[in-house]
Amino acid sequence: MISIEVFRARRARLLADMAARGGGVAVVPTAPERERNRSTFFPYRADSHFFYLCGFREPEAVLVLVAGDSPCQFLFCRAKDEEQETWVGHRHGPEVAAERFGFDSAWPIGELDRKLAELFVNQPAIWTSLGNEPEWDRRILAALKAVRAKVRTGDTAPQTVHEISAVLDEMRLIKDEGEIDLMRRAGEISAAAHCRAIRATRPDRFEYEIEAELLHAFRSAGSQFPAYPTVVASGPNACVLHYTDNDRRMLDGELLLIDAGCELDGYASDITRTFPVNGRFSGAQRDLYQLVLAANLAARAEVRPGNGWNAPHEAAVAVLTQGFIDLGLLKGEAKELIETENYRRFYMHRTGHWLGLDVHDAGQYKTNGQWRPFVPGMTLTIEPGCYIRPADDVPEAFWNIGIRIEDNVLVTPDGCEILTDGVPRDIEGIEELMRG
Ligand code: GLY
Ligand code: MN
Ligand code: MN
Repeated sequence: MISIEVFRARRARLLADMAARGGGVAVVPTAPERERNRSTFFPYRADSHFFYLCGFREPEAVLVLVAGDSPCQFLFCRAKDEEQETWVGHRHGPEVAAERFGFDSAWPIGELDRKLAELFVNQPAIWTSLGNEPEWDRRILAALKAVRAKVRTGDTAPQTVHEISAVLDEMRLIKDEGEIDLMRRAGEISAAAHCRAIRATRPDRFEYEIEAELLHAFRSAGSQFPAYPTVVASGPNACVLHYTDNDRRMLDGELLLIDAGCELDGYASDITRTFPVNGRFSGAQRDLYQLVLAANLAARAEVRPGNGWNAPHEAAVAVLTQGFIDLGLLKGEAKELIETENYRRFYMHRTGHWLGLDVHDAGQYKTNGQWRPFVPGMTLTIEPGCYIRPADDVPEAFWNIGIRIEDNVLVTPDGCEILTDGVPRDIEGIEELMRG
């Protein structure tokens, strides 16, 4: 649980950053509710920037921060409404929300447009993220226009719109202790869910039965949502990177690839494991699995402060490409196959991404044109794989094998900590879990 003091300190840091760059007013709306079909809605999930700054989970809320000599932190949220609260659920209401979430003041969301136009007066800049939700762009620009309309009174309107993500992405990239605790716990829950799924797998069961095991484990451990759509991909489906139908019967002799992670109090985990449906890796499966495992271990060994973001990917590509040659899948010299990117026929994605409130989390991968160096507190995935579709020039034993081994990693002062060790990744550990 992240404390209100921490959220308030994050807002103060953002305000200090804004002040150092000329000041202005920040407007950070949360996500809209989205209809799934006729007056029923997708499960609601707050916007990550908004949630990072205040931890408030209700929809229809906006955070407004005014930088300057006496910085102010305001929240706009739903007014209390007995009837709506009877039908839909509790609302804090502005008065309670201001106190509970550490704001200087809070107002009903219905007053936002009028108040924004007031707050923009004589301010040098607006700090927001345009281009995400057309309705928010429209409202923010309408408030700006309302101020411009009053220039003859002597008021001035903001002259600049800053992309607030440039600041918030950088803040979110380095996790604090509270975030790391949540990500450790999310990793544990997801690892336990994978163990449950591995144990439940056997020939002739359906992929969705295994998906149900994962979702049960996530929710019963207190996670609010899966962090992304669960992939339970048997046999040829494992070669479809974003397969989520999960409706096929799993056959004896095939592999099952599961990419699944829970979200806990906003923070994602993201684990992939691949294992034999019948509990025993065959020869070709074993060879390819050992290769991907070697790539996973080589990649993680590159995660340490000072090394650049791309070092794990380069290590994984080097191991995989040499392995593809050794197994007769590619012909030629490793160096050339890497330079020409011919390895991408069997390994077409990158080896990881930042992980946090978003599964593909905020943060630039390059700064000043260079891969950015790892810094303690960064969290990322390591997820090499290989995907072999049937083709005349590919030995048949490898057809339809898709393997990925994905772990979550925290950069520490002297290397890294693996957050997803709770589910085995070596062949012996997996086969033993399936025998049990
Ligand atoms: N599960 C999404 C990803 O691995 O990037
Ligand atoms: Mn991932
Ligand atoms: Mn994944």
